Amino acid sequence: MAFENILSETNEGIGIITINRPAKLNALNRATILELSEAFTALDKDEHTKVIIVTGTGEKAFVAGADIAEFSEFSEEEGEQLAAIGQQLLFDLVENLGTPVIAAVNGFALGGGLELAMAAHFRVASENAKMGLPEVSLGVIPGYGGTQRLPQLVGKGRAMEMIMTAGMVTAQEALTFGLVNHVVPQPELIDFCKGIAARIMKNSPVAISKAIKAINASYTKDGYEVEIKSFGEAFGTEDFKEGTTAFLEKRKAAFPGK
Ligand code: COA
Repeated sequence: MAFENILSETNEGIGIITINRPAKLNALNRATILELSEAFTALDKDEHTKVIIVTGTGEKAFVAGADIAEFSEFSEEEGEQLAAIGQQLLFDLVENLGTPVIAAVNGFALGGGLELAMAAHFRVASENAKMGLPEVSLGVIPGYGGTQRLPQLVGKGRAMEMIMTAGMVTAQEALTFGLVNHVVPQPELIDFCKGIAARIMKNSPVAISKAIKAINASYTKDGYEVEIKSFGEAFGTEDFKEGTTAFLEKRKAAFPGK
């Protein structure tokens, strides 16, 4: 399958999906989300693909977030739709995929990038990786499941602090928090993930997909609906207009607090 924004290939049972917009630090625009959705669905259906690794092109970024330029003019309704459609098309799809998904976090994983990594079944980071949910610095909140999956992984207090400060954590901090399972030198990242994939592939794919389903069943879905609604409401605020405009104009935001 030919894609414009991503690469997808399978070798010896391991599918690798690479987000490939390096000039925009692999930011997730609408087209990329659609392509990722198609690629994950196709690899999941492919009986030769036993494990999927998702990563970003280059040495700087996994994914630097949702594409800010694309949504800066959105209304409340469009904002809500953005979150609802994105969650359904990609983030919920990945979390509930029967094929195991490992996120190889090779650099910045911010906003939608960290949300994609958190939707994967587990994460391995390179030493240079930096992770965070900086949405409140733009006057919006995480809308691709971040308010739900971050506390599941790191606990409520750490999630509150990370989201409120809009700060980034290093790979080592992420390891301490349980946000990533391993930290390895960047050149070894993909081979390290392939090594884990090889161990997974020795086991029953049917049992693994049932285990994924059972593990995911312990988390309720209601919070995601609250997130989608609140994400949409943020688009109606003056703070959101100021936050996104300031990013695109490469200056610091001066939030009016309205
Ligand atoms: N959406 C759209 N474009 C983005 C982007 C995003 N989330 N993240 C980076 N880019 C673009 C930049 O606008 C820039 O494009 P340009 O060269 O056409 O101006 C390019 O990618 C390189 O990014 P730049 O900011 O110049 O790199 P940097 O090394 O100075 O900073 C980051 C790297 C990751 C710290 C910075 O890009 C950043 O803060 N990105 C936004 C992160 C964010 O808030 N994500 C959440 C979105 S909801």
